[in-house]
Amino acid sequence: MLVVNERGHLTVGGCDVVQLAHKHGTPLYLYDEQRIRTRCREYVGEFSARYPSVEIAYAGKAALTTGLCRLMYQEGMGLDVASAGELYTALQARFPAERIKMHGNYKSNLEYRMAIEGGVGRVVVDSLLELRQLDSWADKLGRVADILLRVRPGIDTHTHQLIQTGQVDSKFGVGIYGGEARRAVELAGELGSLRLRGLHCHIGSQLIEIEGFERAVDQMVSFIAQMRDELGFECEDLDLGGGLGIRYTQHDEPPTVAQLAETICPRLRERLGAAGLPEPRLILEPGRSIVGDAGVTLYTIGVVKEIPDLRTYVSVDGGLSDNPRPALYEAVYEAVIANRAAETPAQWVRVAGKHCETDTLIDDTEIAPPQPGDLLAVFSTGAYNYAMASNYNRFTRPAVVLCCDGHDELLVERETLADLIARDRIPAHLLVEEPAADVCAGQG
Ligand code: LLP
Repeated sequence: MLVVNERGHLTVGGCDVVQLAHKHGTPLYLYDEQRIRTRCREYVGEFSARYPSVEIAYAGKAALTTGLCRLMYQEGMGLDVASAGELYTALQARFPAERIKMHGNYKSNLEYRMAIEGGVGRVVVDSLLELRQLDSWADKLGRVADILLRVRPGIDTHTHQLIQTGQVDSKFGVGIYGGEARRAVELAGELGSLRLRGLHCHIGSQLIEIEGFERAVDQMVSFIAQMRDELGFECEDLDLGGGLGIRYTQHDEPPTVAQLAETICPRLRERLGAAGLPEPRLILEPGRSIVGDAGVTLYTIGVVKEIPDLRTYVSVDGGLSDNPRPALYEAVYEAVIANRAAETPAQWVRVAGKHCETDTLIDDTEIAPPQPGDLLAVFSTGAYNYAMASNYNRFTRPAVVLCCDGHDELLVERETLADLIARDRIPAHLLVEEPAADVCAGQG
């Protein structure tokens, strides 16, 4: 990731980040467009080389803007959306609805309506209740909804417990164990406005061990075989979700996309063959591994505070609001002084945010000796950072910039202070200069 130009400045997508900071301000989210495209092509190429029918659906929850939807469209990707807002973003970007999969363990009426009227390719149904609700919405709107059923295969993965999803004790999907998934397949077959096209599972995120995917393949194939035998079910689509981990620090060694494909495809074909099953279309939904390491967040360093014999605190002009992941998942990052990127790291520091609480961004990292005014670039922030950003402390959210061949283009403008109060309303009685003592009582 570290490409340094002749001035000693870090570059992203051929752009000098010092110039980007001057032009767009900090904090700033940067994406290397070519890197995102390379990841998309890796997924499509590696899986298609090993399996006859494949769709790679980018999981938009990792980072979604209308521009990123267009990029995914150009790359021939499908798209996984998980809310009305993500679906709206995709449809506004003219992403083809038939390549969209609509997720969610609790879909609102608005989401049912949008999914059906928008003509999304697959609604991924998460519960027995949802089967009935979706069927009645489809019926009301005079449509037939193509669905996948999300099953919970009962697989524990080695990742942070907040991002495990396929274990028995999880809110997602219908359990294979206990017979709920079987009942759902049966019910889906009985409901007139639904067409059950296949099955879905997602076992977790930031998975570094490939073994969980092997177990998912085995479990899903044996469930498909069981449903064929017991209910005559034909599985056209098998969606194995996302989850491949990425490198956050030099100590991380995630499997490559090629290794993932080599793990999943031959095993899937072998298990299907052994069960006498035809090969369904294989769908994958990677999010983090498409955009994660293509993202860099740029900050300006403010105070550098030394606590003698203990440590040096480096405060930057962002923090919890642009990256909640350290606080939520104990996520670890690496950084570099971007305006002196070729300098040898020589000082251990703790990188702190500027929120009114202890918002550590990086607990302990070695960088070139920092000075106020330096730029700090934090790597691998492309997934679940912009997507999870907030306005905590009424911070404005940073701009998002796409960098390619030395050109930079806005994906999202920086929020303004005026944006922060644009939806605030002042109730009339609060405008009174000197309220009566019983002003609230007076509101009746
Ligand atoms: N498909 C489904 C149904 C999912 O729930 C997810 C992620 C994905 C695909 C994409 O997974 P990925 O390839 O990105 O691992 N906010 C957390 C991550 C939550 C992931 C939720 N589901 C984080 O910052 O680590």
